[in-house]
Amino acid sequence: MAEALPYVPGLAGVPAARTSVCLIDGEVGKLEYRGYPIEVLAEHCTYEEVAYLLIFGALPTKTQLDAFSAELVAERGLKFRIVDVLKTLPESGHPMDALTAAVATMGMFYPGDHVADPDFRRLSAIRLIAKVPTIVAAWDRIRRGDDPIKPSTELGHAANFLYMLDGNEPGPVASRVFDVALTLHAEHSMNASTFTARVVGSTLTDPYAVVASAVGALSGPLHGGANERVLEMLSKLDDPSAASVRRWAEDRLARKEKIMGFGHRVYRVKDPRATILQGLAQELFDQKGSTPIYAVAGELERQMSELVGDKGIYPNVDYYSGIVYQKLGIPTDLFTPVFAIARVAGWLAHLLEQLEDNRIYRPSQVWVGEADRAFVPLSDRG
Ligand code: CMC
Repeated sequence: MAEALPYVPGLAGVPAARTSVCLIDGEVGKLEYRGYPIEVLAEHCTYEEVAYLLIFGALPTKTQLDAFSAELVAERGLKFRIVDVLKTLPESGHPMDALTAAVATMGMFYPGDHVADPDFRRLSAIRLIAKVPTIVAAWDRIRRGDDPIKPSTELGHAANFLYMLDGNEPGPVASRVFDVALTLHAEHSMNASTFTARVVGSTLTDPYAVVASAVGALSGPLHGGANERVLEMLSKLDDPSAASVRRWAEDRLARKEKIMGFGHRVYRVKDPRATILQGLAQELFDQKGSTPIYAVAGELERQMSELVGDKGIYPNVDYYSGIVYQKLGIPTDLFTPVFAIARVAGWLAHLLEQLEDNRIYRPSQVWVGEADRAFVPLSDRG
């Protein structure tokens, strides 16, 4: 028998792929997509440009971007039978479950061979990036008893999603802030949902099954699901004074409870996306007025830095995203679906990369059970 490699819980630090999609240096808080720093992309690019960069590996020319954006717009609509599927789901269900179901259903409506056919592969990627926001917005309206709003053919990707929620075209600041938030969430190397996408993709199943699986992985509270819990947590902290926030944090840490929106497997410093999101929150509040939660968040960040900063536990991307989304009028339980709307580009970039040099994932295990047990017939078992 070959000598077993050491078991690493959570595969922490174990390389699972060769990749050129996303580079992170968690010691210094560096994040790059395809070699471009996140700060530069957030300042200068739209989400459409970033999605193109992730999928195709290079920033688009103006002509390429126009064509890509037009393809996305053309693919925004949903087949009425996919809307019908959403209508059959219980309105009390979580939107991430509705999204998983609808994306998996897409595989039935768009059959094809993405492995052998590059055109189908490209179209599937565009379809998924274009339709995931429409599904999320349609579900939000259906569960409230309203008809879905037809996607706009004029608005950009970010503004169109906000428009599909309530039929109001967002202003330039809201559109830009949401667009940057999508860019910040578009990709983040080998996290649980991206690893899921690569594992599922390595079986050569269709891209809709890949994205549906990744959405399922993203739903969990230790991954994408943290953003809505951050807001719930901050909402309960109604006294923003330093003494009260510190007491709350100390109690929670003493009980070994996780404080949502803090900590990261990779970053030992503040997540660069949290820094950018904090700036966006400030921009929104300057325009639309502040919220008490923002003051509480700032105080908790200060206290946590004193309490656990030396352990490398700082705010992650989820810490300020909920505050921004709430100000944009997005319902709390859509925060994680919004994460999926952005991350679908990253998942697909990894799927395409996986397919270029595919080998099905098949790790080993450390056996801790009994072996060679004597079988006892049912009639003789005590
Ligand atoms: N609050 C309090 N203590 C923490 C936290 C936290 N948020 N995060 C880590 N720690 C402590 C943990 O208790 C442990 O301490 P000790 O060594 O004394 O037992 C140590 O730090 C290592 O924690 P871990 O859970 O083993 O670290 P991990 O790398 O396995 O987990 C994490 C990373 C993100 C799951 C974790 O930090 C966490 O649960 N954070 C809260 C949930 C959250 O905000 N998730 C969003 C992650 S970023 C977006 C995304 O990827 O979706």
